[in-house]
Amino acid sequence: MKQHTTITILTALVTLAVTVTANPPDPANYIGSKMCGVCHKAEASGNQLGKWQASPHAKAFETLGTPAAKEAAKKLGIDDPQKSGKCLKCHSTAYNFTEVVATEKIKVEEGVSCESCHGPGKKYMAKSTMESREKSIAAGMIYPATKTCTLCHNSESPTFKGFNEKEYSEKIAHPNPKVKK
Ligand code: HEC
Ligand code: HEC
Ligand code: HEC
Ligand code: HEC
Repeated sequence: MKQHTTITILTALVTLAVTVTANPPDPANYIGSKMCGVCHKAEASGNQLGKWQASPHAKAFETLGTPAAKEAAKKLGIDDPQKSGKCLKCHSTAYNFTEVVATEKIKVEEGVSCESCHGPGKKYMAKSTMESREKSIAAGMIYPATKTCTLCHNSESPTFKGFNEKEYSEKIAHPNPKVKK
C-alpha cells in the first residue's frame, strides 16, 4: 500500500514535469468556449464570445465538410477531412495541435476556439487570476496570443496563402473597450 502511494506520487511528479515543459499544452486543462463565455459575452466589455462565434475560426470544422476541403484532401489521399487528424490538427481545438482527439472537454465541432490561442483555461479562469495579466500568464495563459498563430498559419496548410500578423490580427480582433492598453 505504502509503496503504491509512493509510485503514485512519483508518477504524478513525472506527469507534472512533462506538463510544465510540454509543448503543446496539457489537454486536461481545456474548458471549452462556453465556459470562457460566461465572463466574456457582455457587449459592454467587448463580447469576445460573440465575436469569435462570427469569426472564421468558429467555422473551421464546418469548412472541412465543403467540396473545396474534399478536393484538397483527395490530393493527399484523405477521404473525409472531418475525420482526419491530418486536417483536424489545425481545424479543431479538440485535437490540440495533434493528429488525434486530445481532449474530450471540447467538441470537435467547436473548430478553433479561444484556448487554441489563449492556452487551456482551467488554471487561469478564476476571476481573481484573470484580473491580473501576470497571474494569468503564470497559470498558463498565452500572452500575447499572437505567439500561436503560425502553429497553424503556415505552409503545411494545403490552402496557405501567406500570413501577415498585423493584418490577420485586425481581422479577428475582439478587444475589451473598457481595458486601457
Ligand atoms: C470567472 C470569469 C472569467 C472566466 C470564466 C474567464 N475569464 Fe478571461 N477575464 C476575466 C476578467 C474579469 C478579465 C479582466 C478584464 C477583462 O479583460 O475583461 C479577463 C481577462 C481576459 C483576457 C485579457 C488578459 C490580458 O491581460 O489582456 C483574456 C485573453 C481572457 N480573459 C481570456 C479568457 C479565456 C480564453 C477564457 C476561457 C478559457 C476566460 N478568459 C475565462 C474573467 C474571466
Ligand atoms: C485565433 C486566435 C484567438 C481566438 C480563437 C480567440 N482569441 Fe482572444 N485574443 C487573441 C489575440 C491575438 C488578442 C490580443 C491580445 C493578445 O495578443 O493576447 C486577444 C485578446 C483577447 C482578450 C483581451 C481583450 C482586451 O482588450 O483586453 C480577451 C478577453 C479575449 N481575447 C478572450 C477570448 C475569448 C473568450 C475567446 C473565445 C470565445 C477568444 N478570445 C478567442 C486571439 C484569439
Ligand atoms: C489551431 C489553429 C489556428 C490557430 C492557432 C490560428 N488560426 Fe487562424 N485560422 C485557422 C483555420 C483552420 C482557419 C480557416 C477557417 C475557415 O475558413 O473555416 C483560419 C482562418 C483565419 C483567418 C481568416 C483568413 C481568411 O482567409 O480570410 C484569419 C484572419 C485568422 N485565421 C487569423 C489568425 C490569427 C491572427 C491567429 C493568432 C492570433 C490565428 N488565426 C491563429 C487556424 C488557426
Ligand atoms: C498546418 C495547419 C493546417 C492543416 C494541417 C490543415 N489546414 Fe486547412 N487551413 C489552415 C489555415 C490556417 C487556413 C486559413 C487559410 C490559410 O491557409 O491561410 C485553412 C483553411 C482551409 C480551407 C478554406 C480555404 C480558404 O481559402 O479559406 C479549407 C477548405 C481547408 N483549410 C481544408 C483543409 C484540409 C482538407 C486539410 C487536411 C487535408 C487541412 N485544411 C489541413 C490550416 C491548416
